[in-house]
Amino acid sequence: MTESATPDHSPHAGKRIAPKHATHALPSYLDPEHLGPWGIYLQQVDRVTPYLGHLAKWVETLKRPKRSLIVDVPIELDNGTIAHFEGYRVQHNLSRGPGKGGVRFHQDVTLSEVMALAAWMSIKNAAVNVPYGGAKGGIRIDPRQYSQNELEKVARRYTSEIGLIIGPTKDIPAPDVNTNEKVMAWMMDTYSMNTGATATGVVTGKPIDLGGSLGRREATGRGVFTVGVEAAKLTGLAIEGARVAVQGFGNVGGTAGKLFAEAGAKVVAVQDHTGTVYRDTGLDVDALLAHVQQTGGVKDFGEADAMGDDEFWAVDCDILIPAALEGQINKDTAPRIRASMVIEGANGPTTPTADDILRDRGVLVLPDVIANAGGVTVSYFEWVQDFSSFFWTEEEINQRLVKIMQDAFHGVWEVAQHHKVTLRTATFIVACSRILQARELRGLYP
Ligand SMILES: NC(=O)c1ccc[n+]([C@@H]2O[C@H](COP(=O)([O-])OP(=O)(O)OC[C@H]3O[C@@H](n4cnc5c(N)ncnc54)[C@H](O)[C@@H]3O)[C@@H](O)[C@H]2O)c1
Repeated sequence: MTESATPDHSPHAGKRIAPKHATHALPSYLDPEHLGPWGIYLQQVDRVTPYLGHLAKWVETLKRPKRSLIVDVPIELDNGTIAHFEGYRVQHNLSRGPGKGGVRFHQDVTLSEVMALAAWMSIKNAAVNVPYGGAKGGIRIDPRQYSQNELEKVARRYTSEIGLIIGPTKDIPAPDVNTNEKVMAWMMDTYSMNTGATATGVVTGKPIDLGGSLGRREATGRGVFTVGVEAAKLTGLAIEGARVAVQGFGNVGGTAGKLFAEAGAKVVAVQDHTGTVYRDTGLDVDALLAHVQQTGGVKDFGEADAMGDDEFWAVDCDILIPAALEGQINKDTAPRIRASMVIEGANGPTTPTADDILRDRGVLVLPDVIANAGGVTVSYFEWVQDFSSFFWTEEEINQRLVKIMQDAFHGVWEVAQHHKVTLRTATFIVACSRILQARELRGLYP
């Protein structure tokens, strides 16, 4: 019998008293009708709970962020008026170490989105076993509408406002959508000025001259390539001659495409925000990268045939790499995909519905939470190098990155085989178990 159903003879009879074990399913600041990305994350946690054994007792800890900070970011614009921006920093879980996760500048950032991205960082960091919790930040701003001077003020004021909760041993931001090395340099400088000592380890993804790491720029694409090669070995797909299609030809997609081409694969189709290019015999990836650098996109690349943007999803290929935006593989595009393997370079490119469609069609999906973890892995190396003030060669960095990605991928693969689940669910099983094991060992404070 539940406590609330017990006949009540107490002096409080008739008054509404919360049951002693009350645990609200959702924080009051979320709208249950419009949960947004946080809702997707909660579904993913529910999927793994049956596999967590005795640790399932702690699962609620994953369903609520540890700490969410919303800050006002006021700046004086170049024209003398004052503008206010909304900023967030969410620390989802810190059981395994300090928070780690990027900061994005985007006009559509919401608290729900930052919460979900922070949670996915907890999963990703635990999946590759780097000693971090998960965090994420964002500012609701369209950076294209503002000058460099204004963006610098925004970055600096935001850093000051979240300075209460970040720090080299507390929470370490990094670049994400629309933020880069320059923003990290401003953030590092602001934090250092406020604390009175140069603290290179407060952010990663910094310029090399400020304690950044060699190999960081290419790290995510290299990780995508590494897990792709391992999965190809396990499934009997030859990389040499394999047909590859890439959506997004920026940092992640460009590097992954280049590495696949160097390994003998044929990059047959590439799509970015300017258009889609195709060549049945394989595109010249180096020439395409140079074209993108010169013109800003793949459109009008001379040594290719044009292809309709929609046709991209049905292109004849073995490996498809979404490396652009969220939600690209959905109920409309998933049924048309001809690849036998999808490697998620982007964060959240596949909707849960599309995930099920691909699983039922036998398409192997290497999920973002493991496939694009190369970036945070080299961010971890950057942080370690900053602490020791001793910097490694690019060769050492790449070797260590490949080893971590290979080991993590094989661990997840074995769990997937054992439980007969998708690699996404397997990655969540591995990661959630690690996080909750740490939670249990630490115990509840006080
Ligand atoms: N850079 C990293 O270290 C890193 C790490 C983990 C995950 N990611 C994720 O990878 C994805 C790509 O990040 P990036 O760093 O390569 O960004 P980027 O800005 O370097 O490149 C983005 C690419 O996406 C393309 N794109 C944008 N809109 C598009 C559209 N509507 N249709 C097709 N293509 C479009 C752009 O043209 C560009 O080629 C993002 O989801 C990001 O969160 C990046």
